Amino acid sequence: MPSFQSSTRVIPNASGVPRHIAIIMDGNGRWAKKRFLPRAAGHQRGVEALRETVKACRELDVKYLTVFAFSSENWRRPADEVSFLMQLFLKMLEREVAKLHENNICLKIIGDRSHFDDQLNRRIAEAEQLTADNTGLTLTIAANYGGRWDIMQAVRAMLRDKPELSGNFSELELEPYLSMHYAPEPDLFIRTGGEQRISNFLLWQMAYTELYFTDTLWPAFDREALQAAIRSYQSRERRFGRTSEQLRSGQAPEGKADA
Ligand code: IPE
Ligand code: IPE
Ligand code: MG
Repeated sequence: MPSFQSSTRVIPNASGVPRHIAIIMDGNGRWAKKRFLPRAAGHQRGVEALRETVKACRELDVKYLTVFAFSSENWRRPADEVSFLMQLFLKMLEREVAKLHENNICLKIIGDRSHFDDQLNRRIAEAEQLTADNTGLTLTIAANYGGRWDIMQAVRAMLRDKPELSGNFSELELEPYLSMHYAPEPDLFIRTGGEQRISNFLLWQMAYTELYFTDTLWPAFDREALQAAIRSYQSRERRFGRTSEQLRSGQAPEGKADA
């Protein structure tokens, strides 16, 4: 498994197509409401938008796509919506995994699984196992995920493994325990639905991610919308703490490849 270095230690080589895109798929409820449909219909259409986005990412040669499907705070929603979302997740795993495997996609689920029922946890484990050796796109679904939960579980797991580090550890020692240790940090973050916030998504990993917000509601997000986000990303200057003049004069410390 490759190990990736953090943007606060090594300046990533970042240009062209983002290697890792992270998306908050927001706006399903509003999409449905506009059409006088129940919120569930919006979530259902959201799965189609995800399918299309996965396909576009493969074609555009994006290596990692990470999507926020259910946050640790989404349990606060009405019980029937929570249960619909869990069923939809289960169904998606049952229906889509064979196709993902055929397309050489490696599927990973991040988040606190302790609140999922046995059936869902079994499906998750099977899907991850089946697709583990695939070398195409890595698709990560964040389910019952929270950025703070991630950092806390990483600290706890590290100290369980290495109690001698208590009181004296570095980023380097913590990183292997974070949920996304298998991927480089996101280059581009997209949030659909018009809100401009992070909502407890990948807090640690987005230290230097380019942020892109669009009013498009998630069920309406398509290839063209993805390309617009990538174009915006490509127009930015990623300085990682350096000055613009340093970058232009070529005097800046080298952007060492971090793969
Ligand atoms: C995102 O859409 C999906 C989840 C959070 C599961 P929403 O359900 O948040 O849709 P809006 O924001 O209410 O429109
Ligand atoms: C963020 O969307 C979580 C997901 C898309 C899964 P929310 O709709 O839950 O976010 P807030 O509550 O508006 O911040
Ligand atoms: Mg929302």
